[in-house]
Amino acid sequence: MIEKKVYGGKVLVAGATGRTGQWVVRRLLHYGVVVRVLARQADVAFRLFGEDVEIVVGKIQSVEDVARAVDGCDAVISALGSSSYSGESSPASVDRDGVKRLVDEAAKAGVKHFGLVSSLGVTRWYHPLNLFAAVLLKKWEAEEHLREVFSSPALSFTIVRPGGLKDGDPLLHKLHVESGDRLWSGWINRSDVAELLVLSLWVKKAKNKTFEVVNECEEVQSTLEHCYDLLPE
Ligand SMILES: NC(=O)c1ccc[n+]([C@@H]2O[C@H](COP(=O)([O-])OP(=O)(O)OC[C@H]3O[C@@H](n4cnc5c(N)ncnc54)[C@H](OP(=O)(O)O)[C@@H]3O)[C@@H](O)[C@H]2O)c1
Repeated sequence: MIEKKVYGGKVLVAGATGRTGQWVVRRLLHYGVVVRVLARQADVAFRLFGEDVEIVVGKIQSVEDVARAVDGCDAVISALGSSSYSGESSPASVDRDGVKRLVDEAAKAGVKHFGLVSSLGVTRWYHPLNLFAAVLLKKWEAEEHLREVFSSPALSFTIVRPGGLKDGDPLLHKLHVESGDRLWSGWINRSDVAELLVLSLWVKKAKNKTFEVVNECEEVQSTLEHCYDLLPE
């Protein structure tokens, strides 16, 4: 069911073919938001989304492709994620440089809001996940860049640092949110991470927030908007 339109802008989703990214697209479409995706393979994006979204084919490593993708968009949501130790899909290339490139080109193109999927533990160099090509440190560098570039008064950002990601429908869990990167464990559905980032487009209290989030318990929710009330100003 398409709900009443709550956001009038166009949103670019990077990493849209990924498991969280697909949920970001689905939840945007649920709210009637106009969506463009940046995808490496047009056929994969078309198989997933058909004609419901505009598809820009390109690589996150290419400034020209990224500039084309953000052109004319009002917001960007990135669910990009590395998948190999080295090369084009490495943490350095995707989680750090890819996201930084997207941030820079988005700001140049006049994008107003940027939502980012990051991770628990990004501030801890000694976290075991950093054995995978320093993935958390690369995400931290990208976060810092986003906070810096999108902190001017006319712009805004929302950075969601989820615990371990699981598949499943949104709004089935009461969530625990925190700031300061003190959580060590916990799980959350990718669909809820997507929902939080989609809400950040129009929920004022979501603006300029960086926070961690995991499931608290199973409990059906009518919205996740209240999660943003629990964060410090
Ligand atoms: N797994 C966890 O438990 C966990 C926990 C906390 C945070 N996270 C983070 O949450 C985010 C989303 O995770 P996920 O499991 O949904 O990710 P995923 O399914 O692996 O999707 C990753 C997306 O990034 C894209 N991508 C990868 N390399 C790329 C490149 N070189 N150029 C352009 N696009 C590229 C993929 O595109 P293709 O479809 O073309 O490959 C895909 O769309 C990631 O940043 C991940 O690190 C994960």
